[in-house]
This record gives sequence, C-alpha cells and structure tokens, in this order.
Amino acid sequence: MSKTISGFSKLTKSKKIDWIVDTYFLNAESARDVLKQYWNSNDALQQLHDEFIENTITNYYLPFGVAPNFLINKKLYTIPMAIEESSVVAAASKAAKFWLERGGFKTKVISTTKIGQVHFIYKGDFEKLKQFFSLVKSKLFETTKAITRNMKKRGGGILDIELRDKTTDIDSYYQLHASFETLDAMGANFINSCLEQFAKTFKFEALSFKLFSETEKHIEIIMSILSNYVPDCLVRAEVSCKIEDLSDNSSISGEAFANKFIQAVRIAEVEPYRAVTHNKGIMNGIDAVVLATGNDFRAVEAGVHAYASKSGKYSSLTHVKVEQGLFTFWMEIPLALGTVGGLTGLHPLVKLALELLHKPSAKELMQIVAVAGLAQNFAALRSLTTTGIQQGHMKMHLMNILNQFEANDAEKKYITEHFKTNVVTHSAVIEALKKLRVSSEK
Ligand code: MEV
Repeated sequence: MSKTISGFSKLTKSKKIDWIVDTYFLNAESARDVLKQYWNSNDALQQLHDEFIENTITNYYLPFGVAPNFLINKKLYTIPMAIEESSVVAAASKAAKFWLERGGFKTKVISTTKIGQVHFIYKGDFEKLKQFFSLVKSKLFETTKAITRNMKKRGGGILDIELRDKTTDIDSYYQLHASFETLDAMGANFINSCLEQFAKTFKFEALSFKLFSETEKHIEIIMSILSNYVPDCLVRAEVSCKIEDLSDNSSISGEAFANKFIQAVRIAEVEPYRAVTHNKGIMNGIDAVVLATGNDFRAVEAGVHAYASKSGKYSSLTHVKVEQGLFTFWMEIPLALGTVGGLTGLHPLVKLALELLHKPSAKELMQIVAVAGLAQNFAALRSLTTTGIQQGHMKMHLMNILNQFEANDAEKKYITEHFKTNVVTHSAVIEALKKLRVSSEK
C-alpha cells in the first residue's frame, strides 16, 4: 500500500517530486526525468503555470492546432483548437472549406443571461417570507454595490432577483434565484461574490424582521453558487445551401446525401444512445476551442448536456430541414464564455488564441465556438453516412500507431505513402511496418 503524507502542499516542487517518485515508481530517476522533460526552460513562464493550481509538478501538453477557412457572418477566421483526438482538426478544416464555398456559417447570439442561486431553508409561513423578500430586495442590490460598480459602468450587473418556493421538492426549501449580465467576463467570480453577499444580507436582515416568529427569523443558508445551466445564454449557428450543391463528388447526389443526413439527425433526435455520441462529436469541436481560449470546458459540457435533455429526454443538439429545395442545418446551444478575466489575460497561448480570433467579445466567441461544434457534427455525419468514420479517422490515427512502434522518419514516409491507397487498420499498419523492417534488414 502507498504511504500517506501530511503537509504535501507546503513542500517545494522538487521535494514534492522526490516524494512522488520515491513512493510510486520503481525507477525513480526515469520518472523524475519524464516530469522534468515537460518543464518550460523559461523560469518565469514555468512559474506562471506552477501557480495556476496547487501541487503542480509538471506541465501536461495537448496539441494546439488551427482550422483555417471558417467564414462566419462574412468574416474569415482561423480557429485555434486544443485537442488530442487525431481527426478533429482535420474534420473541422474540411467542413470549413466545404461551407466556405457555400456561403459560410451564419450565427446569432439569442441571449446572454446567466443564473445564480442562494439555496436556503426557512421553517415558517410563506406569506411572511414573501413580505420579507419584497422589503429586503432593494437591500440585496444595495449591499452588493461595491461588487457590481465596475460591471454596471460597463452595462452589466444583476438583472433581477426572485424568491422561489421549492417546498414541493424538499421541505422548507426556498431559493433566491438571480439573473446576471456579465458582458465579456464568464462571470463566475462576480456572480458567486454577489450571491454570497445576498446570503449574508438576507440572513442578517431576517433577524430583525418584525413579522417573523423566533423560528422564522433563523433562515439557514445552505449554499450560494452560480448555475452552469445557462439556457438563456444562447447562441445559434447555421449553414444552408441548395440541395443540389450539397454533393461535391459524383458518387452521391445532393438529394441522396441530404436524405441520409436528415435520417441521421432524426435518429439522434429520438434515440438517446445515438444522441450522446452525436453530441459528443459536437463537443469535440466546442471543447477544443473552449480550451484553446482559456475557458471552462467542464462548465460548458455540463450546461450543454443539460440543455440537450431539456425536453425530459436526451436528444440531438443539431437539427436539419429542407424547405423549397434549401437544406438548412443548425444548432442552438448555451455557452457561458469569457474573453476577459480568468486565464484569458494570463496564459500566453490563450492570449495568442484570442488575438488569432481578432480579439473577440464574449458574444463573438460564443458564435465562433458554436460554429466549431456545428462544423464538427457536419463533418462526422457526412463521413458516417457516406464512407464510414474509420477511413478518415484511421488515416489520422496512422501516425499515432507508427509512433507507438517507434517508426523512424523514413519508415513513416514509406508507410504513409503505402496507406494512401490501402485501408488503415491497426494490424495492417503493424504488418506493413514488420515487412518493411524485415526487407530493410536483408
Ligand atoms: C468521435 O470522437 C466522434 C463521433 O463518434 C461523432 C459521431 O458519431 O457523430 C464520430
């Protein structure tokens, strides 16, 4: 069994590594070398990364790639993507090129409201609580002035606070349900600070509310936290073209392609097993841009999947229709993103990613991210309903297999050439590599 340790976070980085490698690794020196190999040679830059979280011992690299040729509302973008899955950037680039020649992507931000809640227990008469709330509401705004001043100056702030009765779900459970506009900030810190102040004021003022009995005065705050479910922070992305323009090769007509594509989307609309994978493909695009731009992909994931279940049944995030010969494929998706605050001003690669995107506002970034998701889904469905997914996927995965078997540059070149005209499978690659190595030994 491994050892426990106390005071680990107080050790220096090098002492932390000593403990880790001595406790968990047979070859401590080689484990230490791997960890150190990923340190940045620029000490200041390394320190910046060390200080993002607690107990940093090294950096974890992900490829940072770009997908060019995205035409969004008539403006061209090269989209940065941080992702490890081999075929995602290639698929995005392919979809971008396809729609570039067909008018590009059209997007619109529908709403930008975010939500936070104070969850509390009140044992008493609801009518009295309502009276107390209407009296104290202005104080909730007043006592958060120091927190909201700057946001208000820029046009954002607290939009409204409602009292919600949740006692049909849990005895004595109520909420302060607040809505916020946080402009270019993702707003988590702003919202949580406001909520914690609401909770303090609410609890304190209740103690002196004359109509409350002794029990009623003692409101119990359970917690104050923003919600990552943001169905009113919504963006729409869309592509459309004439059905006959959908085909770019002679093997399938535009109409046949549209029919299969529509069936594929319908299946994801009704069948949760398929919907989850369909939406996972959308998140391949979304998460990669969210990560590259320093945003919180866990928050986005949680909110998006909740939105996909809003009807009570998990379903496709994308939809498709054909009307008067026009094929339209679209998605509406909740995205709470920021282009100021958090990592955006700190992480050099995030800053670079945002500059590459023409320094977008949060609203613009919502549109770019939604496009990356829609493009990814289009590319996946196009492959799935025509060639199958493995052809493209395995082509991109080929390099991973070659690296796994430590192929040298000449071997990589030869094998890549060979698989331009042969089907890539894991065993076929190993076989080809073996043959090549045997023949070059002769
Ligand atoms: C793989 O990462 C994503 C896909 O499975 C998405 C889909 O099936 O639509 C290809």
